[in-house]
Amino acid sequence: MDQSRTDQPATKLIASPDQAARLLRAGELVAFGTETVYGLGADATNAQAVARIYEAKGRPSFNPLICHFPSAEAAFRHVRPNDLAEKLARKFWPGPLTLVLPRQAGCPVSQLAGAGLPTLAVRVPAHPTARELLTLTGLPIAAPSANRSGRVSPTRAAHVLADLEGRIAAVLECGPCQVGLESTVLDLSGEMPALLRPGFITREMLEAETGPLASAATPGAKPVAPGMLASHYAPTLPVRLNATAPGPEEAYLAFGPAPAKGLIFQLSDRQSLTEAAANLFEGLHWLDEHATRQGCAAIAAAPIPSTGLGLAINDRLSRAAAPRAAPLAKPFR
Ligand code: TXA
Ligand code: MG
Repeated sequence: MDQSRTDQPATKLIASPDQAARLLRAGELVAFGTETVYGLGADATNAQAVARIYEAKGRPSFNPLICHFPSAEAAFRHVRPNDLAEKLARKFWPGPLTLVLPRQAGCPVSQLAGAGLPTLAVRVPAHPTARELLTLTGLPIAAPSANRSGRVSPTRAAHVLADLEGRIAAVLECGPCQVGLESTVLDLSGEMPALLRPGFITREMLEAETGPLASAATPGAKPVAPGMLASHYAPTLPVRLNATAPGPEEAYLAFGPAPAKGLIFQLSDRQSLTEAAANLFEGLHWLDEHATRQGCAAIAAAPIPSTGLGLAINDRLSRAAAPRAAPLAKPFR
């Protein structure tokens, strides 16, 4: 299992956006500064690179990540903007506002970056070096804050190095962050705009453009962090965990050993947790689609070791297997 990255060379502190862009295009992890906090960047279209973000952070579950772009035009090629999104983008981008919108059909961002959701969070940062990097890279860059899970978000390159030295390829020196607080997250994918995370762009600033916003405090409105919502990860079929082999009417989510016949999605035949993490949401979507069509009654999931990234994989699998109050109308809603 390629869980430990102890073989990784020392993390480089670099000053060249061009070098950082080359590393990102090669699937490496590069931290870079934005006006809010330093982000831990990876090519969002490369599921293995995205899996390594979770590995480096030691994150026990897969929360959806924000994709960063150099311009609203680039962002809106990956999601479907509505009129309000266009208006807010004109007013606040580039800047510390993240918009959650439905993915475009054929959007190349990996399922893992979006944690299997039909929506994607997009942001155009204002920091000039970050924008230069994003332009040079020419790819959507997934980036959560560049700290180990449970630690404080970094606002200087030195903070990133102190926390992630040896776990990532490089940190691009971008100076101290001006805002120092993560971006405001606004969900525009539902009937009513919903504030998911407060930030530097305040509710008042947003409401001047949008009218009243829903939030956790609004009666009747319950926007929640997707990581907390069990049903986001539930396929339509029941999921049986720790299955060393599928039963007669079961499709199989394999991790290594697998039967020769039947409906099987292999997470990683070499039992790499990084590869399995990269394939997990693709696998659940694929099995759900094909298993229903082929008349399977359930999905059996192979046992995954609960070490390193295995914790995050098992977190999602146990949510997928959790008892449901009512049959789900659609997968992953
Ligand atoms: O300022 C920032 O936003 C920093 C810098 C690096 O850009 N990034 C950051 O990313 O804070 P992260 O991954 O720590 O925060 C992402 C937030 C989480 O609260 C997550 O639940 C939410 O955005 N999010 C991401 N995708 C989502 C989606 N499809 N639907 C709803 N919420 C989403
Ligand atoms: Mg964070």
